[in-house]
Amino acid sequence: MSEKVKIIFASRNPGKVREVTALFKDTNFIIKSLLDFNNIPEIIEDGKTFEENALLKAKIVFEQFRCPVIADDSGLEVEQIKNEPGVYSARYAGGKCSYYDNNVKLLYELQFYDEPHFAKFVCYAIYYSGDKRIDAKGELIGRIINEFRGDNGFGYDPIFIPEGYGLTLAELTLLEKNKISHRAKAFNELKLKMLETIK
Ligand code: IMP
Repeated sequence: MSEKVKIIFASRNPGKVREVTALFKDTNFIIKSLLDFNNIPEIIEDGKTFEENALLKAKIVFEQFRCPVIADDSGLEVEQIKNEPGVYSARYAGGKCSYYDNNVKLLYELQFYDEPHFAKFVCYAIYYSGDKRIDAKGELIGRIINEFRGDNGFGYDPIFIPEGYGLTLAELTLLEKNKISHRAKAFNELKLKMLETIK
């Protein structure tokens, strides 16, 4: 692929946009996100799986812009509470809750269980251009700790320690998180498949 190709990342989450833009830096894909446009209606994520929600976002944004789209749906699954919050990760503590509210709710739920609180992040990523669809998935296993550590990243990062690490995701730099994260795995796989498919 020698020409630059504009792709819209169907997200207005600044944390995700930073990570995904960095992952596509070494390609000819120019990543724009919903943060670059005004008047984009809110997308209701009412799918029951990460895959359903990722496809929903990809299709809605494709319909709007009629240009190739990448989308993801992601979340945290905690073993002791039946893989909650799962697809509800963004709104675990209620409709317009903050990341902090979600973390506090999760630690409240987990106080009834012994440590370690094993958990994993899941990311389902999709490329969609109307006639073509490419899928990829990534996971990051680790555990939830009972305190907030670090200022980087977003969401549940301050209370999640990846397996084999002593630091939370929020104590890692963007570059370090992008070497191991669920989103990096999913989008690196997606990127390779896109490079093979889009000539
Ligand atoms: P969605 O994929 O936009 O529906 O939102 C996923 C939600 O899962 C985010 O709002 C976060 O709460 C959580 N989440 C997903 N990926 C990450 C991550 O890399 N770090 C921390 N939290 C995440």
